[in-house]
Amino acid sequence: MSDKIAYARHGDIAVLTIQNPPVNALSQAVRHGLMERMDQAESEAGVRAVLIVGEGRAFIAGADITEFGKPPMEPSLPDVINRIEASPLLVVASMHGVSLGGGLEVALGAHYRIAVPSARIGLPEVHLGLIPGAGGTQRLPRVAGIEAALEIMTTGRHVGAKEAAAMGVIDVIQDGDQTENGIAYTQKLLDDGMPRRPVSEMPVPAAIDWDAAFNAILAKGRGQISPAHCVRAVQASVEKPFLEGLAAERQIFIDLMGTDQRQGMIHAFFSERAVGNLPELKGVTPRALDHIGVIGGGTMGAGIATAALLSSIRVTLLEMTADAGEAAHGRIAGNLSGALKRGKISADQHDAILNKALSVSTDYASLSDADLVIEAVFEDMDVKKQVFTKLDAVCKKGAILASNTSYLDINEIASVTSRPADVIGLHFFSPAHVMKLLEVVVADKTAIDVVATGFDLGKKLKKISVRAGVCDGFIGNRILATYRTAADQLIMAGASPYDIDAALEDFGFAMGPFAVADLAGLDIGWAVRKRKRAEAGIEGVSTYADKMCEAGNFGQKTGKGYYDYAAGPKARVPNPDVMPLIEADRAAASAGGKTFTSDEIVRYYMAAMVNESAKVVGEGIARRPLDVDMTLLFGYGFPRYRGGPLKWADIVGLDGLLADIKSYASDDADFWAPAPLLEQLVADGKKFETLNT
Ligand code: CAA
Repeated sequence: MSDKIAYARHGDIAVLTIQNPPVNALSQAVRHGLMERMDQAESEAGVRAVLIVGEGRAFIAGADITEFGKPPMEPSLPDVINRIEASPLLVVASMHGVSLGGGLEVALGAHYRIAVPSARIGLPEVHLGLIPGAGGTQRLPRVAGIEAALEIMTTGRHVGAKEAAAMGVIDVIQDGDQTENGIAYTQKLLDDGMPRRPVSEMPVPAAIDWDAAFNAILAKGRGQISPAHCVRAVQASVEKPFLEGLAAERQIFIDLMGTDQRQGMIHAFFSERAVGNLPELKGVTPRALDHIGVIGGGTMGAGIATAALLSSIRVTLLEMTADAGEAAHGRIAGNLSGALKRGKISADQHDAILNKALSVSTDYASLSDADLVIEAVFEDMDVKKQVFTKLDAVCKKGAILASNTSYLDINEIASVTSRPADVIGLHFFSPAHVMKLLEVVVADKTAIDVVATGFDLGKKLKKISVRAGVCDGFIGNRILATYRTAADQLIMAGASPYDIDAALEDFGFAMGPFAVADLAGLDIGWAVRKRKRAEAGIEGVSTYADKMCEAGNFGQKTGKGYYDYAAGPKARVPNPDVMPLIEADRAAASAGGKTFTSDEIVRYYMAAMVNESAKVVGEGIARRPLDVDMTLLFGYGFPRYRGGPLKWADIVGLDGLLADIKSYASDDADFWAPAPLLEQLVADGKKFETLNT
């Protein structure tokens, strides 16, 4: 008999307790066990009802995702659920923690549902590139109606018990222990003589305009297909008898299981969890993090301070002058009132944070008892060195000194302190209280418990933390610099910024690189180019991008950049001044004249991204390919359903990509020098994913 499903009798009730930690995923052993235990309950004399509960932190978190992509193993989940629903006994599900995907589908196979107030339900399969595949698309509309069912399954969001009860998904909400509640409720149903109530026998709702719903959801998905396919499965629930609808749902589920998008999304699911899991940090105790200092209250510093405050960490923000301090305070207050409006914090929490947890100062001495200080000052090595020298003088022993630099050498910064083992890079992305990525940059002498504290901070701030080594731009900005150069090469060869943006937005990026540049401000790149030229002693050079800035067009903030924003920030109206400037540069360099299809643009841009990513992994700047993938996903708008650049490369084939890179090298051998790691993998017939374990 199954050891995954415990069996106990309480009078007329057979209690089936799922025991598959950590989240009671519906593995083959659990499915098999449920079948066996249903047989047992039905064959035992005196049993009139079955109660299904989960042990530990959840009812059931869904199908076992580790089984996806493997040959199907009997019994299938739809068969298990149909068997539960068809039982002549009264079947009740008692839910606590999460009931997601197959977990909610099991509950919908029961005849009645009770839940604790903190329970959450959902059908998150779209986040795995799938649709619910075990009756969710057939049963949920019968219980909750089409509109609510489609909203739940196309967004994949978690729904609280109260809302689920209002939708009719949960019959009773009751505080307490799920098993005790469940037994009492089942007993009451028996005492009241309540009948079996199979959802599959409930009437179906009226039809809607299916094509309109399909198209609207497809358009919202930015290329992701699974949410729209939920519509087709729900359509089958209305148009076909139950069993045929179930078969239609299963077919869509199986078809989606075979897609690249499913592979990409599941890679993202597991990588997101693996990225902060570093073997060297096992058993290492992080240092305390009760009080953080932030130096610099611009957008970045204020964002970091906000993120820490929202995670209940006390913050002292240091600015140069009282006026600058006041402006920083205003920025943080603005961020916090945004969090209040979005319901992330209560009015009381908001006031306590502003009045108690945050202090603003102009005196370095106020950082003397901080556990960790992050500087977010001007990106200049001399300025950073001055800050770290002062911090070294005032900070307590054991305090961590962190730099938010996005490309400067952390080893050099650490060298001005007497405690390089306490120095680390913590690279946030702007706005820091919103963006999920944190690069934890480990310098040569950084102590292991300082690294552990960097990851601990990331966890407290609910970030995705990625370990990065020291190099110009670390993982993300180094790769960004390369694919941006590839985009500039395409422009000189003949593609327009608008063709490039459109091709990459079709690929799934939220914004193409030139729309992003307009958003970030074109003056940033201009300043870098001017500084680099000055350092190299180059005079009199002005490219088309410089000329745009010389004319005062810095992008969205000035109303014009690559695009003209007169019609609003989202209007993609090309600025007519740009192409003539580009044409002039092409003429001067005797370049241009080539045309590119969208596919060719994507291929070129992605080849540059993958090649640089392979160098970053090969040099140990990123530990594993998945670290690069998560960096691009959470910091650079890479489409989640493609998994990340190296997952994408594995899917499209490394040999073809290497051949492309070699062909591009005829124009610029240095830039397109193939990454040794990529050549090695192709020679060995391997994929990047073999390096993820
Ligand atoms: N299958 C296999 N493993 C799972 C899992 C699942 N459905 N859900 C979670 N896990 C694993 C995680 O990988 C993690 O493993 P490690 O500790 O080895 O990293 C462990 O369980 C704990 O998970 P989290 O770290 O994510 O814990 P959490 O408390 O932050 O979140 C959760 C718990 C809300 C359940 C979250 O894990 C989650 O959202 N899981 C996925 C739920 C889901 O997508 N279910 C639908 C599955 S598809 C389906 O059911 C198809 C169908 O219709 C038949």
